[in-house]
Amino acid sequence: MARTHNIAVIPGDGTGPEVIAEAIKVLKAVAARNGFLLDLHEYDFGGERYKRTGEVLPDSAIEELRGFDVILLGAVGHPEVAPGILEKGILLKLRFALDQYINLRPVKLYPGVDTPLKDKGPEDIDFVVVRENTEGLYCGAGGFHKKGTPDEVAVQEMIATRKGVERCIRYAFEYTRKRDKGKLLTMSGKTNVLTYVQDLWWRCFQEVAKEYPDIKSDYAHVDATCMWMVKNPEWFDVIVTNNMFGDIITDLGAMIQGGMGIAAGGNVNPEGVSMFEPIGGSAPKYTGKNVINPLAAICAAGMMLEFLDEGEAAQQVENAVIKVVSEKLETLSAGRMGYSTTEVGDMVADFAAAI
Ligand code: IPM
Ligand code: MN
Repeated sequence: MARTHNIAVIPGDGTGPEVIAEAIKVLKAVAARNGFLLDLHEYDFGGERYKRTGEVLPDSAIEELRGFDVILLGAVGHPEVAPGILEKGILLKLRFALDQYINLRPVKLYPGVDTPLKDKGPEDIDFVVVRENTEGLYCGAGGFHKKGTPDEVAVQEMIATRKGVERCIRYAFEYTRKRDKGKLLTMSGKTNVLTYVQDLWWRCFQEVAKEYPDIKSDYAHVDATCMWMVKNPEWFDVIVTNNMFGDIITDLGAMIQGGMGIAAGGNVNPEGVSMFEPIGGSAPKYTGKNVINPLAAICAAGMMLEFLDEGEAAQQVENAVIKVVSEKLETLSAGRMGYSTTEVGDMVADFAAAI
């Protein structure tokens, strides 16, 4: 019997449904070609459902989602819903509840893609950020005192647990070894200022490094990391960092690889249910216009295939994306691709089925 992958699909808000539709088109093309089946279940969590029912993500849904092999997510964020409600209530809730403790974000320049770093090429911009995904400032620890008064105090604490940091660092070393490119893992931190949490990180990094003598380890402060990502991106192979720094540097990474139109990521629980998503937002101003670039969602689906042990299908998707960006698209920006969202999806699906 053909192997079947059970996939929960949360298209979400804004342009999420449009780009996820194209990702599914590509998944179906490679499933047919490689002889596996897709069992897709769609969930309508997002701003529209919240506005209609007041429900963000019921606990029963989390239990249901645990039963899938993987989750494919479009975008969360709605212009008529206060910031934080959907982000915390859906995205962060899933990351935490499903213990997706790694956020894996490749930064890779494909041939033919325009980057502001004009004199750098695909061989210079090809690294992966391993972002800790369940701790740090994202725990929501803290609160207000005397809120709304002139004496107001607000505190938001950065949490690092030895267990949480160690499993992330260990994953990063394993990933660097498996990737087998530069065999270099760089910790990006701020040990000179955050002398408690980053001290824990640094000690842990050095200790785990001893178990990986084949991997070179390095350290860069996060501000300097930003500088070098632009000036010397070829210095990086794999970067491991905390949740907040990882959030920030991967938006920079998305830009140097050509923009949000192509940046994908995975929320990974190596022992559980992982969730893959384009890393940009819901782009409300482009919603329903058939102009948004679906490649980030398609690349997220490609990463998802890798995790489903469909390495060949994942490679076919990547080859098709490379062909489309290097031979077809004028730019990666919404409305300036030279093609519509659905046309880009069609081209990738056709190439993925054939080359
Ligand atoms: C991301 C996003 C999220 C984050 C938001 C939407 C909560 O920016 O996935 O990078 O900060 O992690
Ligand atoms: Mn972000």
